[in-house]
Amino acid sequence: MERSNISSKFAPELHNMLNILHELQNDNLQNYLSSEDLKWVANYLNTTYSSVYGVAKYYSMFSLTPRGKYIIRVCKSPLCKMIDGEHIIKCIKEKLKIGIGDTTNDSLFTLETSECLGHCAQAPVMMINDKVYKNLNAQKIDKILKSIIK
Ligand code: FES
Repeated sequence: MERSNISSKFAPELHNMLNILHELQNDNLQNYLSSEDLKWVANYLNTTYSSVYGVAKYYSMFSLTPRGKYIIRVCKSPLCKMIDGEHIIKCIKEKLKIGIGDTTNDSLFTLETSECLGHCAQAPVMMINDKVYKNLNAQKIDKILKSIIK
C-alpha cells in the first residue's frame, strides 16, 4: 500500500501504529520495514523514530531486515514439537538449504519459527505468509514447497 493510501486509511494517531507498520511491511516485496518506513511512520504519527523502532523491534512479526517473498513460520510450541515438529523443521532446512532465520539465495523463502499458531489439534503446523498448513509430514512439505517454486 502506498504511503498516501495509508494516510487516507489510518488517522495519524498512535493507536494505529501497528496497523500502519503491518501495511507497510506487507507492501514491501522483501517483507520488512526499512528505516525510511520507520521515519515516515514517526513523522506521520508525530512521534520519535526510536519509539517506532522500539515497537517494530519488539514484535516478532516485524522484520527490520529484508526477507524472502514467502515467510515460512513453523510452530515450535510443545504440542507441535512433540508431534514431529522438529522433523518438519529439519525437512525444510534440508530442502531449502537454509537455517532458521535465513533466506534462500533466490530471496524466495525465509524460515522462521513461531509460538503456537492456534491449530494444535492438527499438529504439526506451519504458516507460509497468511496460509496455514496442518498435519504436516515430509511428503506434504515437499508438495507444498514444489507448488510454490513451480
Ligand atoms: S502447538 Fe503448534 S499450533 Fe498450537
